Amino acid sequence: MKFQAMKDKLRASLPTKRFEHSIGVCDTAVEIASRYGADKEKAAIAGLLHDCARKIPTREFVDKAAELGIPVDEIERNQPILLHAKLGVYYAREDFGVEDPEILDAIRWHTTGAPHMSLLAKVIYLADLVEPHRDFATVGAMRQMVREGLDKAMIAAYANTMDYLLAQHLLIHPDCLEGYNELVLAGKQQKKE
Ligand SMILES: [Fe+2]
Ligand SMILES: [Fe+2]
Repeated sequence: MKFQAMKDKLRASLPTKRFEHSIGVCDTAVEIASRYGADKEKAAIAGLLHDCARKIPTREFVDKAAELGIPVDEIERNQPILLHAKLGVYYAREDFGVEDPEILDAIRWHTTGAPHMSLLAKVIYLADLVEPHRDFATVGAMRQMVREGLDKAMIAAYANTMDYLLAQHLLIHPDCLEGYNELVLAGKQQKKE
């Protein structure tokens, strides 16, 4: 499917705010991709479609995942919003014909993050956090961090997310914690060398 057709189809399926956020992530992902040498075309598609599963209401996520044979872990069962990442992979293929594993992986990991993320997945994770419609307290600092270094920004983004989850007494998905630990350990290793 051509990019414009994807855009039109997404516009028709998402609430306006969610669609505008998706365009923000798409544009920001292309910017970050060109700064760090990631594939801009893939960044545009992954950014555009990362939230495509939000076309169905959150209360239906667990049942939908079960129906599709998508495994649901304990954390996702308690915080079903997390499932829009796994469901997004399904809808990106099903509704938009995306088969590129790198794009699908970027959609898969955009919510929790994870260890061993590709350059493209990091680009999407960060674009989701700093796109122009975002207005949380530390977004300015996060935008600056994204300009300074991708892994440095990823660590700050994980910390930001975990701060929020802890303050709300929400669950922290192990993929998030493992992604954070991996990058902090890699940073310490670099300092030793
Ligand atoms: Fe999302
Ligand atoms: Fe998003």
